[in-house]
Amino acid sequence: MTLQSHGLRQPAGDPIARTINRLAPWFHNLHLPSGHQTAADHPLGDFPRVKWRELSAVLPDDLTGWRALDVGCNAGFYSFALARRGADVLAIDTDEHYLRQTRWAAKLFELTDRVHIERLQVYDIARRAEQFDLVLFLGVLYHLRHPLLALDLLAEKAERLLILQTLTMPGEEELQAPRNLPLAARGALLDPGWPKMAFLEHRVADDPTNWWAPSDACVEAMLRSSGLDVVQRPGYQLWVCRPRRLPTHVRHELDAATGREGR
Ligand SMILES: C[S@@+](CC[C@H](N)C(=O)[O-])C[C@H]1O[C@@H](n2cnc3c(N)ncnc32)[C@H](O)[C@@H]1O
Repeated sequence: MTLQSHGLRQPAGDPIARTINRLAPWFHNLHLPSGHQTAADHPLGDFPRVKWRELSAVLPDDLTGWRALDVGCNAGFYSFALARRGADVLAIDTDEHYLRQTRWAAKLFELTDRVHIERLQVYDIARRAEQFDLVLFLGVLYHLRHPLLALDLLAEKAERLLILQTLTMPGEEELQAPRNLPLAARGALLDPGWPKMAFLEHRVADDPTNWWAPSDACVEAMLRSSGLDVVQRPGYQLWVCRPRRLPTHVRHELDAATGREGR
């Protein structure tokens, strides 16, 4: 990830500042109880607090009794925000570097009893029995080689809400795709509003971990095909969805892809 902070030079002798430096680079600017910030010089501003402002308005103030899954939790900003509203959160990420940050910050925020942190791939969730009231799937879809596999999996795990944020390709056109496209009419695929996803074989903004950039139309079509209804668009590149049942043919493919017994 390139859009991160390498930490400000912190005063010698300040143990929290020293730990911030030792755990750098940071992608999340956490405002710690001590007043320190972990990425005050973040290239995206006070990130992801700016994004949370858009998101927080669509979530109940009181999440007591809610079980939440934060996929790609990074340093845990969103997990902590949900836990402060009373949710029990499973925070997962593949990168031990970020998980070290999350574990350290969870202690400082005194949220270790409500934020459970595990090093997991999004696909590992297929082998977990639990369901979640809320799934946060923010900033991860485009990093995956198998985005629809992950989306189907998470759609099935979400009981009340799934919130998606993704890098997109420019253009907001959307067309009503026909129920059946005759082969000879494939020229329609070139229409700017046809759902499209650009494949990113090489680096974007120096980051080698991106694979896809879907159009807005493509994001919405993928969400629909995974049995998710978009109920709000509270911000740029942000979709709030309510899950329906996963379509049967999609579920069969998911069973096969995950090697699990059919449900
Ligand atoms: C762009 S950051 C987004 C972080 C956070 N969700 C946010 O929106 O601010 C992507 C995060 O997803 C994690 N990640 C990448 N691939 C993953 C995977 N297959 N399963 C779980 N996490 C993944 C990365 O380590 C990183 O922390």
